[in-house]
Amino acid sequence: MSFDERAARAYDDSVRGDESAAVTFLAPLAQAGPALEFGIGTGRIALPLTARGIDVDGIDISPAMVDHLRDKPGGDQLSVTIGDFADVPVPGSYGLIYVVFNTFFNLLTQDDQVRCFENVAAHLTEDGVFVIEAYVPAFLYRLRNDQYVDAESIQVDEVRLDVLRHDMATQMIDESHVTLSATGVSLNPVVQRYAWPSELDLMARIAGLNLKERWGGWSREPFTSTSSNCVSVYAR
Ligand SMILES: C[S@@+](CC[C@H](N)C(=O)[O-])C[C@H]1O[C@@H](n2cnc3c(N)ncnc32)[C@H](O)[C@@H]1O
Repeated sequence: MSFDERAARAYDDSVRGDESAAVTFLAPLAQAGPALEFGIGTGRIALPLTARGIDVDGIDISPAMVDHLRDKPGGDQLSVTIGDFADVPVPGSYGLIYVVFNTFFNLLTQDDQVRCFENVAAHLTEDGVFVIEAYVPAFLYRLRNDQYVDAESIQVDEVRLDVLRHDMATQMIDESHVTLSATGVSLNPVVQRYAWPSELDLMARIAGLNLKERWGGWSREPFTSTSSNCVSVYAR
């Protein structure tokens, strides 16, 4: 997704609904803080975490998303660096670094993903943790000819389709959430390189980190063969 001004303006219109559970999970891991969020966006998680008394710094590549964060109450108090989180372009170390909502998969090559883990390791305190929340690529089982079209919502005045194409060799997906209504057609493109949890674990090991906990969701649901989401906690 390009996260340009149009996307940033619409971003908070759809509610994911996991904010409270995510913050409840993350807050105790932040120790005394500060914490660092990769792809902080409009502050969906960072702002409620700050409301729990934890200082949160952020990195984001989209000035438009960060402008919308700045417009929210308390949003101008956070230290946000515009840049690529694969580089972790901030000084200092953090007890908690986290990346949620599949944002890690916005790094489009395995090299960038490994580089990100290595830079995380260089910015974690001795007992710090790195949390990744992302989907398990179970959509692979729904593909026919390496693609699918899914009716996400059908109403009288609006239809929403999820259109996805997969490249097995690169583990890349091109996806668009397409809305059709009387006001016209709108597209929300997403390009990602997914990784299975086991590949994330290997990347962590390359960077000198190990899997400490893995859950099927923010409420510490067991991670099983039917989990569609995965919360992984890495530490030295
Ligand atoms: C799906 S949004 C998630 C925003 C926020 N974390 C949330 O949960 O609502 C992904 C965010 O990551 C940012 N992003 C994507 N790739 C990035 C990169 N390589 N470096 C920094 N930010 C990136 C986008 O600009 C966007 O704000």
